Amino acid sequence: MQSYDELFENNRAWAENIRRADPTYFERRVAGQEPHFLFIGCCDSRVPTEMLTGSKPGEMFTHRNIANQAHPNDLSMLSALEYAVEFLDVKHVLICGHYGCGGVKAAMMPPKHGVVDHWLHVVRDVYRWHMAELEQLADDAARLHRLVELNVVEQIFQLSRTPIVQRAWARGRRPILHGLVYDLHDGLLKELVSGIDGEDKARELRAQVTGPTSAEKPRHQ
Ligand code: CO
Repeated sequence: MQSYDELFENNRAWAENIRRADPTYFERRVAGQEPHFLFIGCCDSRVPTEMLTGSKPGEMFTHRNIANQAHPNDLSMLSALEYAVEFLDVKHVLICGHYGCGGVKAAMMPPKHGVVDHWLHVVRDVYRWHMAELEQLADDAARLHRLVELNVVEQIFQLSRTPIVQRAWARGRRPILHGLVYDLHDGLLKELVSGIDGEDKARELRAQVTGPTSAEKPRHQ
């Protein structure tokens, strides 16, 4: 799709199709949303959240940013997280990266991309913390592939440390955190970490993100 007008034509056809199959569908949506999932993904247009998970409107609360990050000082992400956890009571929080991520790739290059270089500082840290493993890989493509995965796991760890998730866990084992990666080559999701539903599991995860270069990461100790 390239034309702006086409966007509206497609929209009208989509709404008409749904109305024909289910005449009260939209009316029922007006009443409210009860999603079971918060999806935190990359902005990349090749990762169509609803399409790839078969979700319908109302089923997936979504937040996107470059390189699918959960910065502990990002008010936009934290607001979405708090609303999803406190008010929508979502059962699952997903962080979904994707192979070939341009944001993660930019973090492997010298910082000359503009504002996004500031945004990517945690991804650069992830590279530094796992440098021993990454530098052993054959080439930059292999390093990017692995850094995409390491970044997802780190972001799940960051999420587990937020007061929002900590407060929710103090009340019970909800939400459950999952770290996924989407493969552009075959359209499939792969699970990297899953079932993080409390402080005990978060501690196990901490051992994973700490890795062999733990001495360089005082904030994880
Ligand atoms: Co991306």
